[in-house]
Amino acid sequence: EASPLVALKRCPILITEELPPEAIKVFRRVFPEAAILPENQQTVSGILEAADGARAIILTVKYRLDEAFFQALPKSVEIIALYSSGFDHVDLAAARERRVTLINTPNILADSVADLAMALILGAARRVLEGVDLIRSGRWAGFSPTLLLGKEMRGRVLGIFGMGNIGREVSTRAQAFGMNVAYRNRTQLPRENEGGARYVADERAFLEGCDILLLAAPLTPETHKFLNAERIRWLPQGAIVVNISRGELIDDDAFLDALLNRHVAAAGLDVYTNEPAVDQRYLTTPGVLPLPHIGSATIEARIAMAETLVDDIERILLGERPSNAL
Ligand code: DGY
Repeated sequence: EASPLVALKRCPILITEELPPEAIKVFRRVFPEAAILPENQQTVSGILEAADGARAIILTVKYRLDEAFFQALPKSVEIIALYSSGFDHVDLAAARERRVTLINTPNILADSVADLAMALILGAARRVLEGVDLIRSGRWAGFSPTLLLGKEMRGRVLGIFGMGNIGREVSTRAQAFGMNVAYRNRTQLPRENEGGARYVADERAFLEGCDILLLAAPLTPETHKFLNAERIRWLPQGAIVVNISRGELIDDDAFLDALLNRHVAAAGLDVYTNEPAVDQRYLTTPGVLPLPHIGSATIEARIAMAETLVDDIERILLGERPSNAL
């Protein structure tokens, strides 16, 4: 019989889509035979077919892992490794029923996503997209003291809804810009986890105090459509909203109304309801800076995600407890 380490090296791993070469290298260092699913097979049925014989499969947020998926999963598959921090796209009960071990990549994306949150906050507040549109259109008539006036950061209140590791990193960055940071969570965090931010227990008081609201809470039944018409009304006139979590935290109709009537002055969005569909109104409404879900899109994060999953797959195969089991 092969030693556990030799068996490990031969472990059949299926990577279900192309990853950056640096991340593939991380997988292949430990699992030299890790296979990458060809592009023309990258559908749920293609994955299920190719997964036959694999012990672990690596999946991004592109696929909904629902009950039907887990029921159809070939017997060989013991580990579903989510190449993501979020797991709102996974039916956890169905995974449990199927007795598959589910792991993800929490914590390590915080710097990458927090950097992008700052880009969206600054980009929305300083009307960066309108500036790009103007200069690209050839309509720019030269410097003007009235052109594209935005808002400075110093002294503004940034309200973070959902103070996890991403929220903390944004908080630190925002304070370096002179902002006052408030946060709202189900409960107040221990001081060392507050990232220098002030807890506001009352939801309405929290929203009324936000010059800029950052949505950073995971999507759960409690946060689904958190930003609805009533809560939008509680935001001060001219507030800015940034979403780096999941599109489903926002009631799109109510939010678009608020953008059109200028109650919300600007928005920075990296995520959308029902991706990759995008409510087209977000692409035409002035003041919206839309990005295509690139919060974790840095090479550092992509490598760290691969390392986190490889470590945990190794642990599981060696009979140890994984660090990030869901
Ligand atoms: C995550 O990790 O949850 C990102 O949103 C996409 O991978």
